Formats: sequence, structure tokens, C-alpha cells
Amino acid sequence: MANVLIIDDDQGMCIMMVDLVKNMGHDAAYSVTLEGGLQMARSGGYDVVFLDVFMPDGNGLEALPKIKETTSAPEVIIITGAGTSDGAEVAIKSGAWDYLQKPLSPKSIVLPLSRVFQYRDSMKEARKPAVPLKLKGIVGSSPAMRACIDDLARAANSDANVLIIGETGTGKEVFAKAIQANSALADEKFIVVDCAALPETLIESSLFGHEKGAFTGADRTRDGLIMKADGGTLFLDEIGELSLNLQKAFLRVLQERKFRPVGGGKEVQSNFRLIAATNRGLEEMAEAGEFRKDLLYRLQSIIVELPPIRQRPEDIKELTVYHTNRICERYGTKTKGFAADFFQALSAYEWPGNIRELINTLESAISEAQDEPVLYIKHLPTHIRVKMARASVVEDIPETDAEKNTSGDSSSEAFLPYREFRDNILAGPEKKYFKDLLTHTRGNISEACRISGLGRTWLYATLKKHGISRTGWG
Ligand SMILES: Nc1ncnc2c1ncn2[C@@H]1O[C@H](COP(=O)(O)OP(=O)(O)OP(=O)(O)O)[C@@H](O)[C@H]1O
Ligand SMILES: [Mg+2]
Repeated sequence: MANVLIIDDDQGMCIMMVDLVKNMGHDAAYSVTLEGGLQMARSGGYDVVFLDVFMPDGNGLEALPKIKETTSAPEVIIITGAGTSDGAEVAIKSGAWDYLQKPLSPKSIVLPLSRVFQYRDSMKEARKPAVPLKLKGIVGSSPAMRACIDDLARAANSDANVLIIGETGTGKEVFAKAIQANSALADEKFIVVDCAALPETLIESSLFGHEKGAFTGADRTRDGLIMKADGGTLFLDEIGELSLNLQKAFLRVLQERKFRPVGGGKEVQSNFRLIAATNRGLEEMAEAGEFRKDLLYRLQSIIVELPPIRQRPEDIKELTVYHTNRICERYGTKTKGFAADFFQALSAYEWPGNIRELINTLESAISEAQDEPVLYIKHLPTHIRVKMARASVVEDIPETDAEKNTSGDSSSEAFLPYREFRDNILAGPEKKYFKDLLTHTRGNISEACRISGLGRTWLYATLKKHGISRTGWG
């Protein structure tokens, strides 16, 4: 839990922000004068300070260095009504974390705050002696996967709510279990609730439990899964499937850690660590009124975004070898080797079902291969071979010089591997795109994600690949 201070002469806004921060599960206080705010900062242990520029008793930008010097060295986010780019420049150069312009929407406050919390958690973590992570069942060494494992470590070292986002089969459950296994609650219970698997009425009683006689068939009182998770971790899978009614009830559980079983008069209490997962865009659902924003803000104290396989094709080989060995172990057969073009063929396919689809495909290839010691493309299911063949057909369009694969030499030695060829062509324009994008957003990653339509993990990995710094855009 973090401590947030808001210094702004607009009391209404202070109260709104305190509510919002508390809703995210943190503590907040405010001051409507600069002097009062400075005193609180000096006595306070704050992690983040929101600071208005034009205050009746002084200028916030001038107080910024004094706030940064207090013992807790808080990150300062400047907020102002009269935004000029010069003000922004001064703010960032004086060490502000970010510069926000009023009017502020909850989203424009929540996202930079989540980033600060993640950053401060990671600083705390960096000061701790490194303990090797237990990563059972997680393979992949692409930059995108490594970024996810960093997030996993951060989540394991904290007790904040975690939201795992990823398409189907990308490893949300595996990550949730790994977060728990590496956390202080490793030896406690891990309770899974799959919100997609049960109809609303059943979810309600399985989550909250019920009293005897609460409905037909309720022949005795039963504890719900929230109660069972007391002292441990609750994994709420497919949280996007919760009805608005249940979202409301669950939000209350998160705020107060108390709830009433179905048909019950007495409130009960449960303390648990929450990990939620979704394969649906909760932000868009929230915009469409299908998901409560206040619940979303609370869920995403730490975000782990798992990339689909098509965004990290360099992991396919490692995943294939790992799962082929597991499957053969399970069948009690000798493990298989791979034909030279097998991985190339796997990389040409999009894998909409991600790792789960890859595992099913390998199972079927292994059973197709029977006693053959090597897996060939012919062992792969037809529908996949058809898609691979289609993907390999390139349309016949006139090429520009830059697009040429070779210097006119048509011997097969002169051909680059396709990936190398594609990366060569893309590297320059791609780097320019991301540099321009970050200049435009002044290094604001959330905004860059929104504009580019890319996920955070993918964006970080691409910036890293091109050596583009996320800071220094102020
Ligand atoms: N990084 C990884 N390395 C190796 N195997 C993985 C990895 N991530 C997931 N898997 C495997 O992929 C399969 C799918 O993983 P998991 O069930 O965690 O995905 P999910 O995102 O929860 O899927 P769904 O959305 O369908 O519920 C599992 O068999 C899991 O063991
Ligand atoms: Mg799952």
C-alpha cells in the first residue's frame, strides 16, 4: 500500500482524488495550501505527491525541489489548469515524474499512479538481495517474456492486487500460480474461481457462500470460495464475465474485506490476496459501461500483460522442445527430435490459441509420428499445414530496390533467411516510428500504447530492442 498526498487549492478535486486513490487500495491525504502541503510532506512518508502549480500562497513548481528532498523522496506529479509546454519542461527538468493538465479524468490519474507504484516497487525490490524465482512450467527468453517475468517478480514481492491480461492460452493461470509460489503466501491456499464456467446464480453462492435454506436445495450452510481464500490467494479467472451486479458486490469485498453470504444476515470477513485474469479488453468494456471503472482501477494495481505467441515467435523453438519433452515423458516414450524445417513451419502460423494450441498440436504430431524418432511437417494437422502453405505464398507485386532480397544475385546462397530480410527492411522505419511516438507523448507509455494500439509489454520490448530510452523527453 502506498501513501499519496494531494496539494491543490480546489478542495472538490482533492476529495475526488483521495477517493480514487483509496479506491485503488492506497492511502491518501490532501492540503489546500502549499505551506500546509509542504509540512505534511516533511512529516509524512509519502510515495507520491500531486502538486498544483498556481496556489494562493505560492507556486508549486518552486516548492517541487523541497518536496523531493523530504525523507521519503516522493515522486511528484504536477497538475495544473493553465498548461503551457514551458511549464511542463520546467516541471520535468526539476525532477517531476509527470505533468498533467486539468480537467483530470480518473483514467488520466490512475495510469501515471500505477506506473509510479510499479516503479517504486521495483526500486524496493532492487534493493533486496536477489532470490532466484521459481518459474516451474514457464519457458521463453524473448524480451517480451523477460519483461513479463520482471512483472511477475514485482507482483510476487508485493501484496497489491494483480491483473493478468492475455489472449486465450497465453499462460494466465500459470503466471498466477507462479506469482503465488514466489510470494510471501506461497504456503497458503490458492483458490481458483472461473467466472466464465458458472451461471450467475451459482457464481454468487460459490463466491459468497450461502446459509441453510437460502434457496431450494441449500440443505446446509456452506462457505464460499472468498471465505476459503482467507489468509491465502484468490485467483479470479475471466473476471470480465462477472455480471455488473456481482462486480458491485465484489468491489465491496475488495474495499472492506467483508461480505454477506447469500440468504445470510451476518457479515463475515476474509483477508486474501487477489489475482484476477482476463482475456477481454476491460478498458473497452468499462468505456461501454459493461465493466465498473472503480473495480477496474482497484484490480490493476499491478498489471502483467502476456503477449500472444505471434508477438514473440523467437520463443516457439524453446516452447516446442519443452512441451515435446513433457508430452513424451507423460506417454512414457523416448523424446523426439525435429526436422530442420519444423520450427520454421511452426513460426509461419499465427497460433490464435497460443501455447495451449501449440501443446495440442504437438500432442497430435507426436501421436501421428508413432515410433518415428523425428517430427516432420507432415506430422502436423492438415488445417495448420494449409495455413502455413497459404502464409508462405507471397503476392507478386513489383519490388522497389529497398525491398530486394539480394543484389540481383539469384543463387540460393544470396537469399537471406526471411525473418532477417524482413527485420532489415523494417528496422529503420520502425525505430523512427517509436522515437517519434515517444517524442509526441513526451515519454508517456500509456498514451503511446493507446495511440499505437500495442500492449505495454510489447511496447517496452520494442523500445528496448531499438535502444530507445523512455525518459528524457520532457
Ligand atoms: N511461458 C510458458 N512456458 C511454457 N508453457 C506455458 C507457458 N505459459 C503457459 N504455458 C502452458 O500453456 C497452457 C495454457 O496456459 P494457461 O492455462 O495458463 O493459459 P490461460 O491464459 O489461462 O488460458 P485461457 O485463457 O484459455 O484460460 C498450459 O498447458 C501451460 O502449461
Ligand atoms: Mg485460464
